[in-house]
Amino acid sequence: MTADLELGKIADAVSTCKKCALFHSRAKGVPGEGPSDAEIMFIGEGPGFHENMQGRPFVGAAGEFLVELLAGIGMKREQVFITNVVKCRPPGNRDPQPEELQACAPYLERQLQIINPRVIVTLGRFSMARFISNAKISEIHGQPIRVKGMLVVPFYHPAAALHRPSLRSVIEADFAKLPELIQNAGKAPVYKPVKNLEEDNHAEQLSLF
Ligand code: URA
Ligand code: SF4
Repeated sequence: MTADLELGKIADAVSTCKKCALFHSRAKGVPGEGPSDAEIMFIGEGPGFHENMQGRPFVGAAGEFLVELLAGIGMKREQVFITNVVKCRPPGNRDPQPEELQACAPYLERQLQIINPRVIVTLGRFSMARFISNAKISEIHGQPIRVKGMLVVPFYHPAAALHRPSLRSVIEADFAKLPELIQNAGKAPVYKPVKNLEEDNHAEQLSLF
């Protein structure tokens, strides 16, 4: 099966998925979008109001800012794959709960396998936690690290900068480093988990469809 067909299959599965309670607040599932051969994958937290209505990731205020940040490094959103750790909207934009993150994880796993991006940019702490445990975003943002063969760069969530203007220049500076990070991907240190990754492995064992 081609990569695009496989991504389409994931999108179909998400649109009718009932593996966690978030299906109750779903208008449209938001599987993510972008080319199946994207070099960069951005992973946010979860759909908000506009994303839930349109079935597309990052189309609200945070999305506008993301597009601006990409433009700052000469990139368009169509060039990158954009998705979230949960594919359905948490009611009132509350934090995704551990059981929801776990239930939804196999979709992201599969997307990572299919797209195999050169760089994964995590936006905010929930997607950072998918790759790096016990880390503080204020301490490690913008620092690339290799996790199980993937290059992961944790960034603040663009919505955080909309709420805290002092973060704006921090996020802009992290984005400005991205092209160089991609060039020097091989030089990033290898992640050594503080505790074992049993939880991650568990997610991989769950069946997808
Ligand atoms: N915030 C996110 O984390 N994801 C979206 O898709 C939109 C806003
Ligand atoms: Fe299924 Fe993920 Fe939506 Fe939960 S958030 S219903 S696991 S697609």
